[in-house]
Amino acid sequence: MNQPKRYLITAALPYANGLKHIGHLAGAYLPADIYARYLRAQNRDVVFVCGSDEHGTAIPIQAMKEGTTAQAIIDKYHPIIEQNFKDLGVEFDIYHRTSSALHHETAQEFFSVLNNNGDLEEKETEQYFDESANAFLADRFIKGTCPNCGYEHAFGDQCERCGKSLSPEDLINPVSTLSGNPPVKRATKHWYLPLNKHEAFLREWILNEHKDDWRPSVVGQCKSWIDGGLQPRAVTRDLDWGIKVPVKDAAGKVLYVWFDAPIGYISATKQWALDNDKDWQPYWNDKDTKLLHFIGKDNIVFHCVIFPVMLKLHGNILPENVPANEFMNLEGDKMSTSRGWSIEMDDFIKDWVKKDNGGTQMADVLRYYLTAIAPETKDSEFTWKGFQDANNNELVSIFGNFVNRTFVLMHKLCAGKVPPLHTDILDEKDKTVIADIENAAQKVTALIEQYRFRDALFEVIDLSRKGNKYMQEKEPWIVARQLATDPSAQKRIDNCLHICLQLTANLAILIHPFLPSTGKKLLWMMKVVEKILAWENAGKMKLLSVGYSLRAPELLFRKIEDPEITYQIEKLKMNKEETKENTAFENTEASKTEMTPQAASPVKPEIQFDDFAKIDLKIGTILSVEKVEKADKLLKLEVDMGFEKRTIVSGIALHFKPEDLVNKQVVVVANLAPRKMRGIESNGMLLLAQNPEGKLVFVSPETLIEAGSGVS
Ligand code: 2FM
Ligand code: ZN
Repeated sequence: MNQPKRYLITAALPYANGLKHIGHLAGAYLPADIYARYLRAQNRDVVFVCGSDEHGTAIPIQAMKEGTTAQAIIDKYHPIIEQNFKDLGVEFDIYHRTSSALHHETAQEFFSVLNNNGDLEEKETEQYFDESANAFLADRFIKGTCPNCGYEHAFGDQCERCGKSLSPEDLINPVSTLSGNPPVKRATKHWYLPLNKHEAFLREWILNEHKDDWRPSVVGQCKSWIDGGLQPRAVTRDLDWGIKVPVKDAAGKVLYVWFDAPIGYISATKQWALDNDKDWQPYWNDKDTKLLHFIGKDNIVFHCVIFPVMLKLHGNILPENVPANEFMNLEGDKMSTSRGWSIEMDDFIKDWVKKDNGGTQMADVLRYYLTAIAPETKDSEFTWKGFQDANNNELVSIFGNFVNRTFVLMHKLCAGKVPPLHTDILDEKDKTVIADIENAAQKVTALIEQYRFRDALFEVIDLSRKGNKYMQEKEPWIVARQLATDPSAQKRIDNCLHICLQLTANLAILIHPFLPSTGKKLLWMMKVVEKILAWENAGKMKLLSVGYSLRAPELLFRKIEDPEITYQIEKLKMNKEETKENTAFENTEASKTEMTPQAASPVKPEIQFDDFAKIDLKIGTILSVEKVEKADKLLKLEVDMGFEKRTIVSGIALHFKPEDLVNKQVVVVANLAPRKMRGIESNGMLLLAQNPEGKLVFVSPETLIEAGSGVS
């Protein structure tokens, strides 16, 4: 395809089950944004869609952890993630939600078309079931040992350690995440997408048609899937959170999240069209549309194998390319929010963007470093030192320095105006740098077209490096000393600064897709309108008119000092420790009693009276309560036990306000061995009741009674 009529760009819909980290940003959203900005600068018809993936078991599982509902979880994280993207300059045309009515209708219609056309198969199979929770155990509701790497906490859909896609049957020693019990098997009916019937199509389309224009790692992963033998894939689940299966007698069944989520790209386009009075159809139905999916490598099979089969059956266009990135590690280890080894976008914004008041383009610095180390061909590594070096040695010392020198000298030696270009005295150095500008524009264009953003950005910085070298060789500040004696001196100064200013205008165009705030700041300094950023202007030498007066320079980037980096590294280590402690706490029996919603009627195995008699329950009166620093879930309580005062740490901070608990009488397990939590020794445990939605209430005496009274 040469010049498509329009572009539809998608970036993987992030699960709205928690904050997203900078590895996610580098994997899908940043490259997609760079490409979309580049296309907009080309004045092409482009729609860039994204939004929250709000279904699947990841959402109710997070709800259980936070002691709230699935709806509350998506309503909490959707706006935060959306705002985080905005703060980091990712400019979607729409950031939609898969919980929207429009998406539910669109996904159900999609399913119905495939089902009515006989493209899905209905099958009854035996699946894992938790008898105590009375629920089938889809995807993340079941855990066990990964058959691939031996990790003991792999989920039923994927191992988070080795990344292997799994089905619950693959797990060794499976247990329910709802109750911790081993599951049983029960018969249930589901709808399957028979991928096996589409092998010939997939082989031809991926392994032949796209073998040269898709990234080798993407083609390679698809090949191993296809060669491994494609199986029918269930597209429904027994769950109560999700999009209802639009078929009679399918009560309790919803569409599989990976069936509905990519359809989210279509419903997002529909909503964008509604909001902008446009027609969404050509973006998904007209062959002259270039559809591109930007994703991380863990999403390859869904976007290159499963969704394309769905699109083909439904009669839509197929993606032209799926430029999937590898992973970005962090300081020598895999980035992972659950292990506390990550930098959340939200955190970066609080620590850098907000603190710097946006003025020194810290969002752009992150975009710069993430692109400079983009994991386009292999996994890469973010280090705080690398971040500092990229800023100090490249953005400050090369790019920023060139622009600053140009503006300062232009004000000093050319009265703050764009000087003329005297073509009669152009020398080889002038001509070389003029050619460099044109070449850079061509190279950057070609590299972006090949989704090689890392190399493209290098070319932009290299152009500023060449500008610096040219300025250094021309030394206009030295030439200025000859002004009184040499009549050609001013002409030579003019030429140098004219060329440097045109080079700066080119830098603004070329850097803008990567560092949008920097591009805009350059426009402001040059007092030109945004139209100049049109990509067709890249490589040209007449962007700034002779005699036009420009603003005084403003610093584009500031130096990052060592203590700022040391602080971040320390913070990262502390975060890991804190997560480790929290996880250890969450895995204790005590925390399960206190924090995990219990299924309606599970009864633990029978015990003898003697076992029960060992537990010493007493009434305590809460004297004071405070939050435990750096532990969202913990409260530290001083409890009067009648015979003594006790400190008890309890994981109930998400459920109660400290001030509401003072003077409350509660039942305390008084003879539980002491445990340390967050460095505080806890002496006892509070009894609470919890309903299936996770709501907690204290087990308390009906009327006031002396602290220390026994409970039996
Ligand atoms: O891996 C994930 O985070 C998924 N929520 C990506 C979905 S992409 C698309 F299909 F919506
Ligand atoms: Zn594994």
